[in-house]
Amino acid sequence: MARFRTLDDLDPKGKRVLLRADLNLPVKDGIITDRTRIERLCPTIRELAEKGGRVIICSHFDRPKGQRVPEMSLRPMAEALAAAIGRPVGFATDCVGPEAEAAVAALRDGQVLLLENTRFHAGEEKNDPALAAALAQLADVFVNDAFSAAHRAHASTEGVARLLPSFAGRLMQAELEALDAALGNPNRPVVAIVGGAKVSTKLELLGNLSKKVDVLVIGGAMANTFLAAQGHAMGRSLQEAEMHGTALRILEEAEAAHCEILLPTDLVVAAALAPHVPTRTVGVDAVPSEMMALDVGPDTVAMIESRLRQASTLVWNGPLGAFETPPFDAATVAVAQSVAGLTQSAGLKSIAGGGDTVAALKHAGVAERMTYVSAAGGAFLEWLEGKTLPGVAVLETA
Ligand code: 3PG
Repeated sequence: MARFRTLDDLDPKGKRVLLRADLNLPVKDGIITDRTRIERLCPTIRELAEKGGRVIICSHFDRPKGQRVPEMSLRPMAEALAAAIGRPVGFATDCVGPEAEAAVAALRDGQVLLLENTRFHAGEEKNDPALAAALAQLADVFVNDAFSAAHRAHASTEGVARLLPSFAGRLMQAELEALDAALGNPNRPVVAIVGGAKVSTKLELLGNLSKKVDVLVIGGAMANTFLAAQGHAMGRSLQEAEMHGTALRILEEAEAAHCEILLPTDLVVAAALAPHVPTRTVGVDAVPSEMMALDVGPDTVAMIESRLRQASTLVWNGPLGAFETPPFDAATVAVAQSVAGLTQSAGLKSIAGGGDTVAALKHAGVAERMTYVSAAGGAFLEWLEGKTLPGVAVLETA
């Protein structure tokens, strides 16, 4: 694993610490609907504050594209953060400039300040050196705890890290250690489960995983494209006809890399995607022309479970079926529960993340029983694709 300076290498006492967080939380009608990212950030803020650091938190929120959009203000997050860490959190209405500088100057050791949305400045997404310099001017050191924004080379994730002594926060450190255990330096055999709707969005991910894992399970609507490419009639199932050639190439490449690809052998089909419609379980050669595949079947679940029992490490991205619409959650829930059981009783290292995966594991009631569930979406995917994440690369020490 690449080396990073962490909070173990930093004495923050009396220092102004610029902390890049990811406060891009899901908000509906002004209410935060999931506080996971705040909860995971708390250990870093608490540690810095308890050790006497002057903690200056910055983050983006949503995509205001360089404009001051009032609904995208971070102000409401200050209260949410204060409640989570049990300390007052001040707020500055700009992330740089006189307002931010005055608020920072007033900070005492152990106090916490939140700066306004970095994306209110157009320079943020452009990684403008002037904005990075203005941010750097506020602080003595930089701590990045926003793994989930590390795929963005922005002024507050990448540019500023070049200008200040930089450290990985506890959440960043946990994410990097989990990812290293998953694919960097894993215990073998490694099984990967990749689900979701489209092959086209996960091409690079499938290509990279097939070179790194021992068994690659393909589920979700994406599996329909592979099955159709192999010549199975898929009825009205969602699939991408233009990706058939690509799907066959992925299968060939996986074989050359000695990666076993597991495609479904049976499917749960229905006439429509709606809650509790009548369903049938059929072999992959028997999908009725007027029906669509919406989940993988029990034989496929049993096959996946048998590979998991032999595995030491699991990487999971994407549900196996249309899990938001029961009963098409059955396979995802069954496999998630097996994974949780093996993690607890057989030492399976289970690492999951990206997009719908966390929602699916929460739906199955097992998110707390996995080895690690990433708080990142796009960054987790890019990392699985084998890409360098600029916000991580800049923290690496020689
Ligand atoms: C995320 O929620 O995945 C990160 O905060 C990145 O957000 P972005 O896709 O708007 O850059």
